[in-house]
Amino acid sequence: MAIVYQKEQRIFTLQTNHSTYQMKIDDFGFLLHLYYGSRTDGNMDYLLTYYDRGFSGNPYDAGNDRTYSMDVLPQEYPTMGIGDFRNSALVIKNRDESECCDLRYASHYVSKGKYELPGLPAVYAEEQEAETLEIILEDRVSKVQVRLLYGVLEEEDIITRSAEIINKGRSGIVVEKAASACLDFVSGKYDLISFYGRHAMERNIQREKIAHGSHVIGSRRGTSSHQYNPAVIIAGQDTTEDYGNCYGMVFVYSGNFLCEAELDQYHQTRVIMGLQSDLFHYPLEPGEVLAVPETILCYSNKGFGDLSRKYHRCIRKHICRGKYSDSSRPVLVNSWEAAYFDFDGETIYRLAKDAAELEIDMVVMDDGWFGRREDDNSGLGDWQVNEEKLGCTLGELISRINELGVKFGIWIEPEMVSEDSELYREHPDWALQIPGRKSIRGRNQLVLDFSRTDVRNYVYKQICDVLDQGNIEYVKWDMNRSITDVYSSTGSQGRITYDYVLGVYDFLEKLQKRYPHMLIEGCSGGGGRFDAGMMYYTPQIWCSDNTDALDRLRIQYGSSFFYPMSTMGAHVSAVPNHQTGRNINLHTRGIVAMTGAFGYELSLAKLSEEEKEEIREQIRQYKQYEELIRKGDYYRLSNPFQDEYAAWMHVSEDKKKVLLHVVMLENHGNMTVNYVRMQGLLPGEVYEESQSGRSYYGSALMEAGLPMPLELGEYPAYQFVFRVRNID
Ligand code: GLA
Repeated sequence: MAIVYQKEQRIFTLQTNHSTYQMKIDDFGFLLHLYYGSRTDGNMDYLLTYYDRGFSGNPYDAGNDRTYSMDVLPQEYPTMGIGDFRNSALVIKNRDESECCDLRYASHYVSKGKYELPGLPAVYAEEQEAETLEIILEDRVSKVQVRLLYGVLEEEDIITRSAEIINKGRSGIVVEKAASACLDFVSGKYDLISFYGRHAMERNIQREKIAHGSHVIGSRRGTSSHQYNPAVIIAGQDTTEDYGNCYGMVFVYSGNFLCEAELDQYHQTRVIMGLQSDLFHYPLEPGEVLAVPETILCYSNKGFGDLSRKYHRCIRKHICRGKYSDSSRPVLVNSWEAAYFDFDGETIYRLAKDAAELEIDMVVMDDGWFGRREDDNSGLGDWQVNEEKLGCTLGELISRINELGVKFGIWIEPEMVSEDSELYREHPDWALQIPGRKSIRGRNQLVLDFSRTDVRNYVYKQICDVLDQGNIEYVKWDMNRSITDVYSSTGSQGRITYDYVLGVYDFLEKLQKRYPHMLIEGCSGGGGRFDAGMMYYTPQIWCSDNTDALDRLRIQYGSSFFYPMSTMGAHVSAVPNHQTGRNINLHTRGIVAMTGAFGYELSLAKLSEEEKEEIREQIRQYKQYEELIRKGDYYRLSNPFQDEYAAWMHVSEDKKKVLLHVVMLENHGNMTVNYVRMQGLLPGEVYEESQSGRSYYGSALMEAGLPMPLELGEYPAYQFVFRVRNID
């Protein structure tokens, strides 16, 4: 049993294979947090301490007891207005405009299986794989209830948290702020690791001490954003890749979020993950419910590598859905960096023809095939095939391509509208715009009001009409600007940012149901919406608009802290690279891209015969190791932001097959030798390296490492394949 309730002590214990989470309903009905960390036994309410603390308020129920204060006690779901002056998980404005919500225990319920959140992505599991605990807390005055949800996936060491805010009262309230998880630590010194970035340079890493005051990351851009990923690690200050305590908080949501880490006056740490409170004032009428998106918690006492592998498993098996969540992905060539807007049907056909020769599985026609779209200033919203530009119907083009044995995919950007489009001319009020103000443009386009069902339904129909014109096996769903002008011509303004994201999810859900065999790849100017929420609908996401192999090493490294390699769209592109001008050799570009969902993004016609032969070989290799890369355990063996080399490896579940990739990042005169120490092997087994035929004990490879060759040139890359001797 993963969830145990001890009635007398009123203690809830959640157990996973390697972690324990405990909380207690105290005498006044407050739900106090006791512990989260390595597995422990017994009740841990002895951790609660009570002292008279000046300027920390005492609830009325405590009578003359000045030692009882919510300002000091660790809580499960801290609220505003109860004498806790730290960051709150929930702020409610009552009808009388007071900001107070005093939550006390009302009831709880334990069930088999994992709870679902209507309209929101969430971890899913078979009934025997998970248990759910729901705890109802209630404000006895306003009758507002909070339904705290805990999902426990024992085998995966995963605990999910979510909350539903339910207005059981007689008058309307406004939810000003709502989080799904709060972690309170009564002791310990922690670092916060967050993943910041910008367009074309996503998920760099920042590690800093959680110090007095509050450190805040989040997004107000309407999407989870390139700038801060909605996932953080709270780590012991001595924690490393393979040593020490760390906790992950991954928000399963693709819109505005807020994460606050705070060290309080008594050196206690609080970290909260939830919805962004700016641009959010969610009105709840009597009987209405607000579901806060889920946070996936995970703990490891073995460092970041182990934490990441747990998240990878969880996201691959319990977030990604559909046919492609667990099957090989087509190797594709995308027309964007090959032709940008400058193509016709023949260009795409020739790309497919060259693809067939190289055994590339699929051609993707990117932006520019619809409406009047010769550049990025017009046409968005007019999802009608530009047959004049293509020189044929879409159906004809797809059939010709399929006859070559090549699959066909297409690019769409349903959430957007160009002012220069038929759609905007007919329905200017469908774009998010504030009356009386000029819009803020982004890439010269506006955002459609996807909080509105009528707008979504219209676009959905247009898109389906296109997708029904032929055998389309892949869609790239793009979103190319941040959201501003948050105002809807219908509905309540304070809920738009949330309803918009739920609108996107609703659209994607319908699309997935209607085309269950179609692979949908997410994208938002590359990795601007690279989050677990999108992964529920799109099992792979274009990781970055930056295809430069050196930058990609770092972007993929940062992304790998939570997200499995199978979710990272990664392509070999031309040199000089279009984003950086760097000339990295084809072999290295191949090694870097094949660590994700592999493809190409260049004009195949411009390749020399030798390059074509090399690409054929890359694809052969990728197909040989694709399953190992997609399903194997992933180990980061260096930090490419700091080290002279980037090294990472994939190990099969039985640990008998291993793929090691190394890219040298620096080259100097009279260079020193780098030894790459491997991980995750069977120490007592002998591994044979396929190219050299040499054998090594797993223990030797892990303890002493493998010397890397010294080679002249920029960024040489190496692929080593090891197998335990005497296996098939
Ligand atoms: C975004 C995407 C690119 C490409 C262009 C098309 O920038 O990230 O891959 O699809 O849009 O306009």
